Amino acid sequence: MRIAVLNGPNLNLLGSREPEIYGRTTLAEIERAVRDEAGRLGVGLTWMQTNHEGALVDAVQALAGQADGAVVNAAALTHTSLALRDAFLAVRVPFIEVHLSNIFAREPERRHSLLADLAVAVVAGLGPAGYVAAVRALADRLRGD
Ligand code: DQA
Repeated sequence: MRIAVLNGPNLNLLGSREPEIYGRTTLAEIERAVRDEAGRLGVGLTWMQTNHEGALVDAVQALAGQADGAVVNAAALTHTSLALRDAFLAVRVPFIEVHLSNIFAREPERRHSLLADLAVAVVAGLGPAGYVAAVRALADRLRGD
């Protein structure tokens, strides 16, 4: 089983970026924890981060035939990108949407996701643990547990 983890803009700055909201854990540390969990689950994992909307659209399109499911933190593009939504509609790969912060408890413009109704589930507010939980839950789901 193959799961792709996709990360959007500014998540490369985790650790130093608004730590009062996003914590002090870096994206590399989150990746390590997720890779450890994937190893325990026997899941093949790919991991990417980009600051560019088009690159994220390309990555979603590339899921077809390359991944059984995805864990996606599209960051600010969650709230703005119809192109990203269209890519998920086109590709139809099951995905779990993840946010470190609880977007539903933040500014009004962050409370709406253009992806959430397409997702298997949304995890928001658990910090880095949300990524690990999402990979575990998606693997269970794909196995039919
Ligand atoms: C985020 C929430 C988004 O609103 C924000 O633009 C981010 C990170 C999160 O993980 O909490 O960049 O996706």
